[in-house]
Amino acid sequence: MATSGGALPKASVPDTLAILGEVLVPTLAKGTLFRRPKAVAVAERLQLDERAVRRLQKLNGKYGDGPLLLRIPFRRQAVILAPGHVHSVLAHSPEPFATASSEKRAALSHFEPRNVLISHGADRELRRRLHEQALDSGNPVHRSADAFLRMAREEADELLQRAEAAGMLEWNAFAEAWYRMARRVVFGDSARDDYELTDMLAALRANANWAFLKPKNLALRTEFLARVEDRMRSSDEGSLAWFMARAATAPEAAPADQIAQWLFGFDGPALGAFRTLALLATHPGQAEAARREAQAQPEGRHLPYLRACVLEALRLWPTTPMILRQTTRRVDLDGSVLPAKCGVLIYVAYFSRDQRHLPAADRFDPDLWLDQDSRTDWPLVPFSEGPAECPARELVLMFSSAFLARLLTRADFRLVSHQQLTPAKPLPGTLNSFALRFAVAAR
Ligand code: HEM
Repeated sequence: MATSGGALPKASVPDTLAILGEVLVPTLAKGTLFRRPKAVAVAERLQLDERAVRRLQKLNGKYGDGPLLLRIPFRRQAVILAPGHVHSVLAHSPEPFATASSEKRAALSHFEPRNVLISHGADRELRRRLHEQALDSGNPVHRSADAFLRMAREEADELLQRAEAAGMLEWNAFAEAWYRMARRVVFGDSARDDYELTDMLAALRANANWAFLKPKNLALRTEFLARVEDRMRSSDEGSLAWFMARAATAPEAAPADQIAQWLFGFDGPALGAFRTLALLATHPGQAEAARREAQAQPEGRHLPYLRACVLEALRLWPTTPMILRQTTRRVDLDGSVLPAKCGVLIYVAYFSRDQRHLPAADRFDPDLWLDQDSRTDWPLVPFSEGPAECPARELVLMFSSAFLARLLTRADFRLVSHQQLTPAKPLPGTLNSFALRFAVAAR
């Protein structure tokens, strides 16, 4: 990255206000660290995510490929509008595009002040390595897959039993089963019913939504991290925390702060898997292909089609809607100069839902992830990419596909809540997973 080049286009005050009002505020209102179901319901009713994408497209037409600098007092903030810039920013992270942006620091320090996401330099390198080792990053099938997939099957079966008895599957039951699985995977069987631990984290995350606008609950944070550390010390062999405990020997490793991110991270795949179920329940052709794959592989080790279905749900409704960076110095991005300490925003759906470039932008099309010929350089980055890419990408896809495979081979699901989800119509920009309801019948 060079340090010379031309000035950036600057959004007018009304256009800056439009981005704040239509892109940033709705995303923050939904809760970036802890979703607020009521705000998500409003966003769905008003289709706010679709509006955000349209607004950015309009500004792209008006100002060109950017990055577009906003007019915000006392703050430098740029929005990425060109696909090539997404790849450059993510490839050159964390230097000069630091992951530890000021707003992320303010938010995440409510519950994991020494986490990799808000670390820089040598600390970040060390912590990133620990995540990659424990999560087996890049390996489609984690080395503890035998035990992990058994847990996924067991929790899916128990969920199904309850859902079949009730004749109905709703978000709360799904999320509870998912988190029982997550606690077992992270620490081992004895943590399965430690609801208190994840409830403590939920309280801290709800505060963290407010970043610097709310004081930190330091007493709760200390209690939570101490409890995570205790659980790590007594974790089962082969669990994620067990791998972390063995590798995290340096004093800067801060293993509890790293594990906190895993517990938080398991929210994303729950949302993604539940939405995938909604897509499959409303798209018979894709459901048939997924079921055939699942029946052929009851263990669920590697299910490429179902993984592609999950990736589609994450493309259509990204669970990390904004990827944030901050420049560590003046940077020339393809001839445009970003000043030092400038916030950089990648609004993921602007790219993943861009029907100007993706003919299937608003359809459920798993082939997008499978068909090498239709692959382009277009940034589809639900897990980000480059050196800070989500280190749990493969693990998430393994769990989500295996859990769904178990459900699909044992029961039929009919979506009774969202009539607008149909292959005949463009898929909505916002899908409120908290309100999804399925009628369930054993197969
Ligand atoms: C649907 C599920 C998930 C999605 C879509 C997702 C996506 C992401 C994204 C977009 C980032 C930010 C990367 C960046 O700033 O460039 C990230 C970071 C991270 N994720 Fe995930 N994530 C998911 C689940 C998980 C889970 C379950 C875990 C742990 C078990 C996890 C662990 C992490 C960690 C440790 C980071 C920090 C990486 C770094 O800064 O180097 N994620 N994830």
